[in-house]
Amino acid sequence: MKVIKVKDYEEASQKALNIMLDVIKNKPDANLGLATGSTPKRLYESMREDHRINGTSYSDIKTFNLDEYFGLSPDHPQSYYYFMCQNLFDELDINLDNVHVPKGSGDIDEECVNYNQLLNDNPLDIQLLGIGSNGHIGFNEPGTPFESTTHKVDLKESTIKDNARLFFNGNEDEVPKQAVSMGIANIMNAKKILLIACGQNKAKAIKYTIEGKPSIDVPASVLQNHPDCTIIMDEAAASLLETH
Ligand code: PGA
Repeated sequence: MKVIKVKDYEEASQKALNIMLDVIKNKPDANLGLATGSTPKRLYESMREDHRINGTSYSDIKTFNLDEYFGLSPDHPQSYYYFMCQNLFDELDINLDNVHVPKGSGDIDEECVNYNQLLNDNPLDIQLLGIGSNGHIGFNEPGTPFESTTHKVDLKESTIKDNARLFFNGNEDEVPKQAVSMGIANIMNAKKILLIACGQNKAKAIKYTIEGKPSIDVPASVLQNHPDCTIIMDEAAASLLETH
């Protein structure tokens, strides 16, 4: 695991941008595994800026998002598909046919099978991750087996609270209770993994992820077993680390 400690969110986002652009420049038809949440917003903004100013092209790039709420249509302002369009895709030259986010409606079991097949057919060159305050990656909550593939998830109370606060005006009743998520095995199949963690509320999860013994109790700790994983963190997220 490569640990990069930086001062703040801005610096973390710029370091992450360099890594993403490196992948894209080396492989203009790369498969990018993308994430939602507040963490990657500045990175996505920087990717838009870079596209506008430097002309980095996404015309042959394919993207695969980690997860989607179940029960929200793609045009719902809190759906992850909508988030990705607003924060990234709308301002890139990406072909929307090459954009993949799990479907949040229809037959959820069928969608899990289909999305998993899609991931098997399109190996990811990089997977971008945030981390939950409970150590989740994607919607893989504590207790999710490391062998899990794309699956239906019942969201934990802590995740519903976090997301209500950040994205649903504090209204927990509006946060869907289920989601479709890539499994941990899908994430681990990516050639390269890039996790960004910022803020004091991530410090405990980051400490265990880096210094604990890999355990399903803290899903991100599985990343210790990945051959090419970089974790970028700000000072607050790194504040409980003993060894870095
Ligand atoms: P955040 O969420 O980026 O909004 O902190 C990260 C996550 O829950 O994976």
